Amino acid sequence: TWTSDSFVEMTVAELKEQLGDDKVVMGLSGGVDSSVAAMLIHKAIGKNLYCIFVDNGLLRKHEFEEVLESYKGLGLNVKGVNAKDKFYAALNGLTDPEAKRKAIGKTFIDVFDDEAHKIQDVKWLGQGTIYPDVIESVSVKGPSVTIKSHHNVGGLPDYMKLKVVEPLKLLFKDGVRDVGRAIHMPDNILQRHPFPGPGLGIRILGDITAEKVRILQEVDYYFIHGLKEYGLYDQVWQAGAMLLPVQSVGVMGDERTYESVVALRAVTSVDGMTADWAHLPYEFLGKVSNQIINNVKGVNRVVYDISSKPPATIEWE
Ligand code: XMP
Repeated sequence: TWTSDSFVEMTVAELKEQLGDDKVVMGLSGGVDSSVAAMLIHKAIGKNLYCIFVDNGLLRKHEFEEVLESYKGLGLNVKGVNAKDKFYAALNGLTDPEAKRKAIGKTFIDVFDDEAHKIQDVKWLGQGTIYPDVIESVSVKGPSVTIKSHHNVGGLPDYMKLKVVEPLKLLFKDGVRDVGRAIHMPDNILQRHPFPGPGLGIRILGDITAEKVRILQEVDYYFIHGLKEYGLYDQVWQAGAMLLPVQSVGVMGDERTYESVVALRAVTSVDGMTADWAHLPYEFLGKVSNQIINNVKGVNRVVYDISSKPPATIEWE
């Protein structure tokens, strides 16, 4: 029978055999899949795994520093690369969601490729592909293919000609978490909600500026922090905030304000393909809404998204 322990043992043995003394480069995203895949490869080849974690300027508040620390704590040979300005420059003036995705994807590949070239004689590209990714990329046609093309970090530029190593290719998400637990990875990585590759870039509707990112990071922080504080974080599949390109009138003291609206979204789901809006307690929503409006300058209204998928998607772009 299949157990996580035997999977780990077999996989690490196979990776050792397959990789020998070769070097592997791998992009980490902070997500469960790439993190667990990296740990398995690390167990097999240690420092010959070169991990790259890119700050695209579209991550959650404090995420880059915290995740980088966790990775180092796990013993991974990881380099953090601050490329915020490159991403903001590439996104400058773009408003179309697919154009933004493409710009983010292309910039990631450029940054990753630059870094990968600094490693001598690298032969392999590590990837956190899981079974649903494999299925989806062969069976799903139409717009999803474009989405899929940026789903996972580290799309392979043709000219890199690296062989690909994907130790989680046959697992579902739950299996990945079990494997992570079997090798004692911390909960702050394993229980993390899914987060899209383009990050806050597709949660800021319309064009992206550093200031909008700052506002959304604050809003998101109050929401996520609140979910954790109220013991709700593990009960939802995914949660986040959207910064809408809409201003509304409010009142503060004797003054009328005219500021941004943010939408909070939290969903329950099994695989992200269908989802229901999470029925969060009103008391919680009220508290978070107050916190956001009282503390985040530039926001004077909070709404909660009660759409299910389908027909609404989880993200707004
Ligand atoms: P939707 O919005 O299509 O999202 O219901 C389903 C899941 O996919 C994530 N998502 C993305 N992930 N790149 C990613 O890596 C993307 O461009 C992208 N778009 C959506 C979304 O966060 C949810 O988990």
